[in-house]
Amino acid sequence: MISSNIVWHNAAVSSNERRAQHGHHACVLWYTGLSGSGKSTIANAVDRLLFERGCHTTILDGDNVRHGLNRDLGFDEVSRIENIRRISEVSKLMLDAGLIVGTAFISPFMADRAQARALIGSTFIEVFVDTPLEECEKRDPKGLYQKARKGEIKHFTGISSPYEAPVAPELHLRTAAQSIEATAAEVVAYLERMQFIAPLEQD
Ligand code: ADX
Repeated sequence: MISSNIVWHNAAVSSNERRAQHGHHACVLWYTGLSGSGKSTIANAVDRLLFERGCHTTILDGDNVRHGLNRDLGFDEVSRIENIRRISEVSKLMLDAGLIVGTAFISPFMADRAQARALIGSTFIEVFVDTPLEECEKRDPKGLYQKARKGEIKHFTGISSPYEAPVAPELHLRTAAQSIEATAAEVVAYLERMQFIAPLEQD
Protein backbone atom coordinates (compact mmCIF):
# COMPACT_ATOMS: atom_id res chain seq x y z
CA MET A 1 0.00 0.00 0.00
CA ILE A 2 1.41 3.41 -0.97
CA SER A 3 1.52 5.89 1.90
CA SER A 4 -0.70 8.94 1.43
CA ASN A 5 2.29 11.05 2.56
CA ILE A 6 4.30 10.55 -0.61
CA VAL A 7 3.67 12.70 -3.62
CA TRP A 8 4.95 12.12 -7.17
CA HIS A 9 7.64 14.63 -8.20
CA ASN A 10 7.74 15.53 -11.87
CA ALA A 11 11.07 15.34 -13.70
CA ALA A 12 12.71 18.58 -14.85
CA VAL A 13 14.26 16.90 -17.92
CA SER A 14 11.68 15.46 -20.31
CA SER A 15 12.02 12.17 -22.18
CA ASN A 16 12.01 14.14 -25.45
CA GLU A 17 15.06 16.07 -24.29
CA ARG A 18 16.83 12.86 -23.30
CA ARG A 19 15.97 11.30 -26.67
CA ALA A 20 17.39 14.32 -28.50
CA GLN A 21 20.59 14.21 -26.47
CA HIS A 22 21.06 10.45 -26.88
CA GLY A 23 20.10 10.37 -30.55
CA HIS A 24 17.82 7.35 -30.21
CA HIS A 25 14.62 6.20 -28.55
CA ALA A 26 14.58 4.33 -25.26
CA CYS A 27 13.10 0.84 -25.10
CA VAL A 28 13.24 -2.44 -23.20
CA LEU A 29 14.40 -5.57 -25.01
CA TRP A 30 12.88 -8.22 -22.78
CA TYR A 31 14.68 -11.49 -23.58
CA THR A 32 12.88 -14.58 -22.31
CA GLY A 33 13.80 -18.25 -22.67
CA LEU A 34 15.07 -21.31 -20.84
CA SER A 35 18.26 -21.37 -18.80
CA GLY A 36 21.10 -21.92 -21.27
CA SER A 37 19.02 -20.67 -24.21
CA GLY A 38 21.48 -17.85 -24.88
CA LYS A 39 19.60 -14.85 -23.48
CA SER A 40 22.63 -13.26 -21.81
CA THR A 41 24.96 -14.03 -24.70
CA ILE A 42 22.61 -12.49 -27.26
CA ALA A 43 21.74 -9.54 -25.01
CA ASN A 44 25.45 -8.81 -24.62
CA ALA A 45 26.17 -9.18 -28.33
CA VAL A 46 23.33 -6.74 -29.10
CA ASP A 47 24.58 -4.41 -26.38
CA ARG A 48 28.05 -4.37 -27.95
CA LEU A 49 26.64 -3.53 -31.41
CA LEU A 50 24.47 -0.75 -29.99
CA PHE A 51 27.27 0.64 -27.83
CA GLU A 52 29.57 0.81 -30.83
CA ARG A 53 26.94 2.84 -32.65
CA GLY A 54 26.97 5.34 -29.79
CA CYS A 55 23.71 4.23 -28.18
CA HIS A 56 23.17 4.55 -24.44
CA THR A 57 22.41 1.08 -23.15
CA THR A 58 22.39 -1.17 -20.12
CA ILE A 59 21.85 -4.82 -19.32
CA LEU A 60 20.02 -6.47 -16.45
CA ASP A 61 20.96 -10.11 -16.21
CA GLY A 62 19.24 -12.76 -14.06
CA ASP A 63 22.35 -14.38 -12.66
CA ASN A 64 23.92 -10.99 -11.88
CA VAL A 65 20.87 -9.31 -10.40
CA ARG A 66 20.37 -12.33 -8.17
CA HIS A 67 23.79 -11.59 -6.66
CA GLY A 68 22.65 -8.15 -5.53
CA LEU A 69 19.23 -6.53 -5.68
CA ASN A 70 17.41 -9.87 -5.72
CA ARG A 71 19.76 -11.92 -3.58
CA ASP A 72 16.93 -12.57 -1.13
CA LEU A 73 14.83 -14.37 -3.78
CA GLY A 74 14.73 -18.07 -4.64
CA PHE A 75 13.04 -19.97 -7.47
CA ASP A 76 9.65 -20.86 -6.03
CA GLU A 77 6.73 -19.29 -7.86
CA VAL A 78 6.28 -16.36 -5.45
CA SER A 79 9.99 -15.46 -5.62
CA ARG A 80 10.02 -15.57 -9.41
CA ILE A 81 7.00 -13.29 -9.56
CA GLU A 82 8.75 -10.83 -7.23
CA ASN A 83 11.99 -11.16 -9.23
CA ILE A 84 10.23 -10.09 -12.41
CA ARG A 85 8.21 -7.37 -10.68
CA ARG A 86 11.38 -5.73 -9.36
CA ILE A 87 13.15 -6.06 -12.70
CA SER A 88 10.19 -4.50 -14.47
CA GLU A 89 10.33 -1.52 -12.12
CA VAL A 90 14.10 -1.15 -12.51
CA SER A 91 13.74 -1.41 -16.30
CA LYS A 92 11.16 1.35 -16.19
CA LEU A 93 13.54 3.60 -14.27
CA MET A 94 16.26 2.95 -16.82
CA LEU A 95 13.84 3.48 -19.66
CA ASP A 96 12.95 6.84 -18.13
CA ALA A 97 16.68 7.64 -18.11
CA GLY A 98 16.57 7.25 -21.90
CA LEU A 99 18.43 3.95 -22.18
CA ILE A 100 18.02 0.92 -24.41
CA VAL A 101 17.62 -1.71 -21.71
CA GLY A 102 18.27 -5.41 -22.28
CA THR A 103 16.84 -7.74 -19.64
CA ALA A 104 17.88 -11.39 -19.61
CA PHE A 105 15.66 -13.35 -17.23
CA ILE A 106 13.98 -16.69 -17.81
CA SER A 107 10.74 -14.91 -16.86
CA PRO A 108 8.83 -18.16 -17.35
CA PHE A 109 5.32 -16.96 -16.54
CA MET A 110 3.19 -15.29 -19.18
CA ALA A 111 1.26 -13.24 -16.61
CA ASP A 112 4.47 -11.69 -15.24
CA ARG A 113 5.69 -10.74 -18.70
CA ALA A 114 2.27 -9.25 -19.41
CA GLN A 115 2.60 -7.15 -16.27
CA ALA A 116 6.05 -5.99 -17.32
CA ARG A 117 4.59 -5.02 -20.69
CA ALA A 118 1.74 -3.15 -19.03
CA LEU A 119 4.16 -1.21 -16.82
CA ILE A 120 6.63 -0.36 -19.57
CA GLY A 121 4.14 0.33 -22.35
CA SER A 122 4.65 0.56 -26.10
CA THR A 123 8.44 0.42 -25.90
CA PHE A 124 8.36 -3.11 -24.45
CA ILE A 125 9.88 -5.54 -26.93
CA GLU A 126 9.43 -9.19 -26.04
CA VAL A 127 12.28 -11.25 -27.49
CA PHE A 128 11.71 -14.99 -27.37
CA VAL A 129 15.06 -16.78 -27.29
CA ASP A 130 13.67 -20.02 -28.61
CA THR A 131 16.16 -22.77 -27.95
CA PRO A 132 14.60 -26.20 -27.44
CA LEU A 133 14.98 -27.81 -24.02
CA GLU A 134 17.01 -30.67 -25.53
CA GLU A 135 19.53 -28.18 -26.90
CA CYS A 136 19.75 -26.22 -23.59
CA GLU A 137 20.21 -29.48 -21.74
CA LYS A 138 22.91 -30.57 -24.16
CA ARG A 139 24.73 -27.24 -23.69
CA ASP A 140 24.20 -27.25 -19.90
CA PRO A 141 26.92 -24.58 -19.43
CA LYS A 142 26.56 -24.50 -15.64
CA GLY A 143 25.79 -28.19 -15.12
CA LEU A 144 22.42 -27.23 -13.66
CA TYR A 145 20.22 -29.44 -15.87
CA GLN A 146 22.20 -32.45 -14.75
CA LYS A 147 21.65 -31.50 -11.12
CA ALA A 148 17.96 -30.79 -11.77
CA ARG A 149 17.51 -34.22 -13.40
CA LYS A 150 19.02 -35.82 -10.32
CA GLY A 151 16.61 -33.86 -8.13
CA GLU A 152 19.40 -31.80 -6.57
CA ILE A 153 17.80 -28.51 -7.69
CA LYS A 154 14.10 -27.99 -7.11
CA HIS A 155 11.72 -25.95 -9.31
CA PHE A 156 14.11 -26.01 -12.26
CA THR A 157 12.56 -24.40 -15.32
CA GLY A 158 11.83 -26.91 -18.08
CA ILE A 159 12.38 -29.87 -15.75
CA SER A 160 10.34 -29.40 -12.59
CA SER A 161 8.86 -25.94 -13.15
CA PRO A 162 6.99 -24.76 -16.26
CA TYR A 163 8.14 -22.38 -18.99
CA GLU A 164 5.24 -20.62 -20.69
CA ALA A 165 6.49 -19.69 -24.17
CA PRO A 166 5.43 -16.32 -25.60
CA VAL A 167 2.51 -16.50 -28.03
CA ALA A 168 3.10 -13.28 -29.96
CA PRO A 169 6.59 -11.95 -29.19
CA GLU A 170 7.85 -8.94 -31.13
CA LEU A 171 10.93 -10.99 -31.99
CA HIS A 172 11.26 -14.77 -32.22
CA LEU A 173 14.91 -15.85 -32.29
CA ARG A 174 15.75 -19.43 -33.18
CA THR A 175 19.27 -19.74 -31.87
CA ALA A 176 19.88 -23.36 -32.79
CA ALA A 177 19.77 -22.45 -36.48
CA GLN A 178 22.12 -19.43 -36.67
CA SER A 179 25.21 -17.79 -35.17
CA ILE A 180 25.17 -15.36 -32.25
CA GLU A 181 26.34 -12.59 -34.60
CA ALA A 182 23.47 -13.21 -37.02
CA THR A 183 20.97 -13.36 -34.16
CA ALA A 184 22.25 -10.10 -32.63
CA ALA A 185 22.11 -8.44 -36.06
CA GLU A 186 18.45 -9.53 -36.33
CA VAL A 187 17.65 -7.65 -33.11
CA VAL A 188 19.47 -4.52 -34.21
CA ALA A 189 17.71 -4.65 -37.60
CA TYR A 190 14.37 -4.78 -35.75
CA LEU A 191 15.30 -1.66 -33.74
CA GLU A 192 16.16 0.12 -37.00
CA ARG A 193 12.99 -1.04 -38.72
CA MET A 194 10.84 0.18 -35.82
CA GLN A 195 12.84 3.44 -35.79
CA PHE A 196 14.11 3.14 -32.23
CA ILE A 197 17.57 3.76 -33.69
CA ALA A 198 18.64 5.33 -36.96
CA PRO A 199 20.14 3.14 -39.67
CA LEU A 200 23.91 3.36 -40.08
CA GLU A 201 24.90 5.93 -42.68
CA GLN A 202 26.50 4.43 -45.81
CA ASP A 203 29.82 5.90 -46.96
S1 ADX B 1 13.52 -16.33 -13.33
O1 ADX B 1 12.80 -17.58 -13.59
O2 ADX B 1 13.25 -15.81 -11.98
O3 ADX B 1 13.30 -15.33 -14.38
P1 ADX B 1 16.34 -15.82 -13.52
O4 ADX B 1 16.53 -15.50 -14.96
O5 ADX B 1 16.28 -14.68 -12.54
O6 ADX B 1 15.05 -16.77 -13.38
O7 ADX B 1 17.53 -16.77 -13.05
C1 ADX B 1 17.80 -17.92 -13.80
C2 ADX B 1 19.23 -18.42 -13.57
O8 ADX B 1 19.38 -18.89 -12.25
C3 ADX B 1 19.48 -19.62 -14.46
O9 ADX B 1 20.15 -19.25 -15.66
C4 ADX B 1 20.35 -20.52 -13.62
O10 ADX B 1 21.71 -20.19 -13.83
C5 ADX B 1 20.02 -20.15 -12.20
N1 ADX B 1 19.10 -21.08 -11.49
C6 ADX B 1 19.33 -21.59 -10.24
N2 ADX B 1 18.30 -22.33 -9.85
C7 ADX B 1 17.37 -22.32 -10.84
C8 ADX B 1 16.08 -22.91 -11.00
N3 ADX B 1 15.52 -23.67 -10.05
N4 ADX B 1 15.40 -22.70 -12.16
C9 ADX B 1 15.96 -21.94 -13.13
N5 ADX B 1 17.18 -21.35 -13.03
C10 ADX B 1 17.89 -21.52 -11.89
